[in-house]
Amino acid sequence: MCGIVGYVGELPAAPLLLQGLKRLEYRGYDSAGIALANQKGLEVYRCSGRIQQLEGAMEGGTHCTQTVGIGHTRWATHGKPSDRNAHPHVSGDGRFAVVHNGIIENYLSLKGELSEKGYTFTSDTDSEVVAHLLALLYKGDVLDTIRQVVARLRGSFALGILCADTPGCLYAVKNASPLVIGVTETGCLIASDVTAILPHTRRIIRMEEGDIARLTIGAATVTDQTGHPVQRAMEQVDWDVEAAEKGGYAHFMLKEIMEQPRVLEDTMASCLDQNGEVVLEGVGLTEAVLHRLRRITVVACGSAYHAGMAGRYFIEQMTGLPVEVDIASEFRYRDPLVDEHTLTVVISQSGETADTLAALREAKARGSRVLAIVNVVGSSVANESDDVLYTRAGPEIAVATTKGYTTQVAMLYMLGVYMGRRLGRLTVEQNAAYVRELRDLPALVERCLTMAEEARTLAETVSQHEHAYFIGRHVDYAVALEASLKLKEISYIHAESYGAGELKHGTISLVEEGTLVVALASREELVAKMLSNIKEVKARGATVLTVTDCAHRDMFRESDALLTLPVSPGTFAAIPMTVPMQLLAYYTALARGCDIDKPRNLAKSVTVE
Ligand code: F6R
Repeated sequence: MCGIVGYVGELPAAPLLLQGLKRLEYRGYDSAGIALANQKGLEVYRCSGRIQQLEGAMEGGTHCTQTVGIGHTRWATHGKPSDRNAHPHVSGDGRFAVVHNGIIENYLSLKGELSEKGYTFTSDTDSEVVAHLLALLYKGDVLDTIRQVVARLRGSFALGILCADTPGCLYAVKNASPLVIGVTETGCLIASDVTAILPHTRRIIRMEEGDIARLTIGAATVTDQTGHPVQRAMEQVDWDVEAAEKGGYAHFMLKEIMEQPRVLEDTMASCLDQNGEVVLEGVGLTEAVLHRLRRITVVACGSAYHAGMAGRYFIEQMTGLPVEVDIASEFRYRDPLVDEHTLTVVISQSGETADTLAALREAKARGSRVLAIVNVVGSSVANESDDVLYTRAGPEIAVATTKGYTTQVAMLYMLGVYMGRRLGRLTVEQNAAYVRELRDLPALVERCLTMAEEARTLAETVSQHEHAYFIGRHVDYAVALEASLKLKEISYIHAESYGAGELKHGTISLVEEGTLVVALASREELVAKMLSNIKEVKARGATVLTVTDCAHRDMFRESDALLTLPVSPGTFAAIPMTVPMQLLAYYTALARGCDIDKPRNLAKSVTVE
């Protein structure tokens, strides 16, 4: 996720763009830049760091008199945060400047083609191909050129474009990444969301998929991909700025829960090729390396540790190797048995967690190859690992992770398929079946999000309890770990999780009349066992909420409440099963009036051991 802003009008553009970028900083903040246009050509400022640094480098932009410009605040996906990877990207001939939000999936093949034609790349980004492609295809008609470029791009992209030949125009493209137009008294704006537009106007036009816009001081013209003008309604927005940042949701956590289908798709698209093979670009896990492995150790903290627990079953099944999952803060104090025959998988959303970093260093010192699953490009964990797989969750603002967690689990599933295939343990057909199921995951999650109302109703009851026990078997146990953490950290209800068969070995002594037990039951072969466990706690007076899928609904009718997935959770159940648990935690915290995005005593990135 990145933030785009643009302006064409009567006012100096630079201060306006800087202000807009600050409002979009929640979308990404590792580097920023601005391009301005006038009759003399394009002027570009960009640097790594936050908007403040860009503002400093431009001395506030007060000396810039240009009234047309585009700006970008970046959340790195391709290439580390650095000055050269910051947007805008400019074509070699200096004619086009481009800002991009999204992922150009076919950028490698385009880059190859452009390089062969003599175009020189100055960044590691996917976005730079757009600037060069514009230069390559340009014959004097900017809109026509943009249409041709769009036809060549695959993936998600919102674009802001300037051309030195038409300095009074700002161009915008929307394709699977958000972009809105604002119409003010002095001109037109574009932005990734209305947050950046609201200080100037409440009159907006929402661009639709495939729209290409040409904006001038007095007009906003929108056309479709064939060049035909399309009518887009003008809307009056009545959100305040804070609500706008949250996309209209009450909290970042809810917004991030709802973003999961999109970010899961982005995460998986980043390592699936057109033939349906998992490709882990730049990762040195060759067949020779994989065949030397004797074990896999996963180290992480908190929810990232739970992601490891969730991914473990599938990776063991795919590789035939033992997979141990360790809490990073414990790992190095137990003289861990890792060596050159171990692959250590380090998982971290932030990439800066001190305990995780320490574990990573310990594993490396013992000769293990380290593969990181990280969300933040250029973070310490990414920098210090041998191989890196980036989740594409975008910035996560709520302290309690949701989309960060599910994208980590998705990446572990992808890694499992990759290793199974390279180790010769997966046939072409099995591979195709898994990839099909993985591709279906975003749609599956979308369906699970429809459970929000049901979760909200049940949350009213859950919020009355002070204690809750989450039980599950196999991967449902891993989901229980994450579900109980979500509930306790944001609602302050004491929650614990157990393998469902483990409760009777001690903790069941705490179950009494009205004790809340949440039973997770997604696995066909374990339904009967889960029923027995539910009966055990019900016999002691527990109130049981069972989470299962529609196929097993009837078997759990003795439960006090049911949360039924509208779909079968399938092989990769940890993801769809977690979604209603996130919603339940969210609505419970809401019912208890908690500070959901900033729970007490917690920080987003834990940089102390
Ligand atoms: C819980 C949560 C934490 C993090 C943990 C690791 O909602 O967010 O438990 O998962 O602090 O953080 P990262 O993944 O940044 O290493």
